[in-house]
Amino acid sequence: MENMLHLTPSRGLLPDEFIFSPDQLPPAISAAGVSLPVVDMSRSRDEVRRAILDAGKEFGFFMVVNHGVSEEAMRDMEAVCQEFFQLPAADKAHLFSEDPSKATRIFSGSIFETGGENYWRDCLRLACAFPVGDSSKDWPDKPQRLREVVEKFIVLTRGMGMEILRLLCEGMGLRPDYLEGDISGGDVVLHINHYPPCPNPDTTLGLPPHCDRNLLTLLLPSLVPGLEVAYNGDWIKVVPVPNSFVVNFGLQLEVVTNGMLKSIEHRVTTNMAVARTTVATCIMPAADCLIGPAEEFLSEDNPPLYRTLTFRDFKRTYNVVKLGSSLNLTTNLKNVQKEI
Ligand code: OGA
Ligand code: NI
Repeated sequence: MENMLHLTPSRGLLPDEFIFSPDQLPPAISAAGVSLPVVDMSRSRDEVRRAILDAGKEFGFFMVVNHGVSEEAMRDMEAVCQEFFQLPAADKAHLFSEDPSKATRIFSGSIFETGGENYWRDCLRLACAFPVGDSSKDWPDKPQRLREVVEKFIVLTRGMGMEILRLLCEGMGLRPDYLEGDISGGDVVLHINHYPPCPNPDTTLGLPPHCDRNLLTLLLPSLVPGLEVAYNGDWIKVVPVPNSFVVNFGLQLEVVTNGMLKSIEHRVTTNMAVARTTVATCIMPAADCLIGPAEEFLSEDNPPLYRTLTFRDFKRTYNVVKLGSSLNLTTNLKNVQKEI
């Protein structure tokens, strides 16, 4: 529980490991009024397909509304996650672990290996198999309704994610079920992120600039702002839209489409006033799934940009690469692939 104790809002000064030099913290300038597109999924299938492909190609990120996850499921999830982080430390201590191979755990900071900096975040990680079976038996048993609420939320959110993948496939001229099977068939992993109020938000971050390593991420973003998305050398501040999810492409979608869909760096800033709790639902490949550029995306003019690796090997290697906003994604991936 050591690390968790750093995250007390009452601290006046941040310990050194939370403090970054100004060059690591380029300010968000909200790229001249640019904001993420909002896709209304209740429009015609044709319109939605076009809107998510256009938004995805331009930003790698977009918001969705009228997405089929009920408001009740979203509100229950937000409430239960906030209640979880408010539990007395003694009720959470047994879940604290720094071992990344543990399916259910609480940890602080980032999952990416960084240069010793620490990040102003606590995270509850959960995994859920599909079909769900008895996945929830390892999840926290407090608050009492957590397992039931989380299970319902994951099923609905994964359903929305699979629909977005089908729409993307159709938009790219592939069979709608092209991304079904092993490539989206691993456990669904939830990162329930909690960013407590921070005494000095100007010198630290909630999460470092990173790309998600999975296939697709669906973020329940909270109405408290904090997420920023890289765009043309600037950071776009994501302004939360009520009842929306923020959708972004993971690195596996970039690899399989040979770079047609890009996984874009994003980071999280903190604030002094209020805690922010978000839920990232990650659709993942199965560990043994071999992922490389699919032949539909290759031609003489489009040679493969990425090597083919199992998801397990990709994660193992990507984990040890030091991330930073100075490394662009392509260099980063190519470096990873040379190391293997
Ligand atoms: C993540 C992430 C963003 C947020 O969990 O990978 O980028 O706003 N979260 O919490
Ligand atoms: Ni992320």
